Amino acid sequence: MNGPRIRDALQFATQRLKNARIASARLEATAFVAESLGLTHTDLILQAETSLDAHQEERINDLVTRREKGEPFFYILGRREFWSLDFKVGPQVLSPRPETEILLEQFLHIVRNRPADDEPIRLLDIGTGSGCIAICSALEVEQLQVTAVDISTEALRIAMENANLHKVADRIRFVCADLFPPYERERFHFILSNPPYIASEDIPGLPADIRDYEPHGALDGGCDGLDFYRKIISNAKSRLLAGGVLMMEIGETQAEAIRQFASEQGGYQTPDIYKDYAGKDRVMVFNLINPQAQSVG
Ligand SMILES: C[S@@+](CC[C@H](N)C(=O)[O-])C[C@H]1O[C@@H](n2cnc3c(N)ncnc32)[C@H](O)[C@@H]1O
Repeated sequence: MNGPRIRDALQFATQRLKNARIASARLEATAFVAESLGLTHTDLILQAETSLDAHQEERINDLVTRREKGEPFFYILGRREFWSLDFKVGPQVLSPRPETEILLEQFLHIVRNRPADDEPIRLLDIGTGSGCIAICSALEVEQLQVTAVDISTEALRIAMENANLHKVADRIRFVCADLFPPYERERFHFILSNPPYIASEDIPGLPADIRDYEPHGALDGGCDGLDFYRKIISNAKSRLLAGGVLMMEIGETQAEAIRQFASEQGGYQTPDIYKDYAGKDRVMVFNLINPQAQSVG
């Protein structure tokens, strides 16, 4: 006996996800059906009248059931797009967010406007997670030598898989460390970070698919959410080369507190702040005060 057609399976999966109050039910159902059948979205349309066998039906049912139970869409799919590339993701890593592309955009803008020379440019990515920042940077800028740090060995394993996938594993050194790599004399031209920045007390109120599935070590920024900024800002000065730049993603309400902390610390020029596409503060850029300017001031 013939099973349901692709068209019917899609309809049924969409209805189940709608009942589970999933906002993009149709989109997610399409992705699950396509994934289960190994088809592209275009193939799904072209083959809408094709009947499914029991095995195929079961695979679709498995994915939809996981989503109904609250598992994040991208973890079920096992990948997420960032900078138009696919990154493997799972519960070991934060799934990369579109806002983080603003950090990458600003970095590329700055690095491409430096006076040209052939010297390697050293970049440190603190809290690399899936490796999205380190990997896209390496792909975009040939001169980069990248060090990617994470405290989680499980996250580093995923980041290395992604680096292999995108063929830049030989240009990125992965280090398991607490924020900074242990080679203290090494200096960088750029330090980039998207650190954990949710205040601990806000974690219980996060949407369930974030709170119950994404690693808390990637979210929890301490009592006011600013622990990592304080540690990175106070230590980055001694890890940057003269003229070096520290760039961090921030939470939308954090810019002023971070600016104030950095100003008390000294060593940095007034930071530039960039907004995301929703108009929210998202990236802060700190240039070191060069020693000459410092002594004059
Ligand atoms: C918000 S996630 C960012 C992941 C990735 N860079 C991105 O933008 O999608 C923060 C990352 O920092 C890592 N992390 C947390 N504490 C750390 C520490 N003390 N030292 C290094 N990495 C840390 C977490 O494991 C997590 O992978």
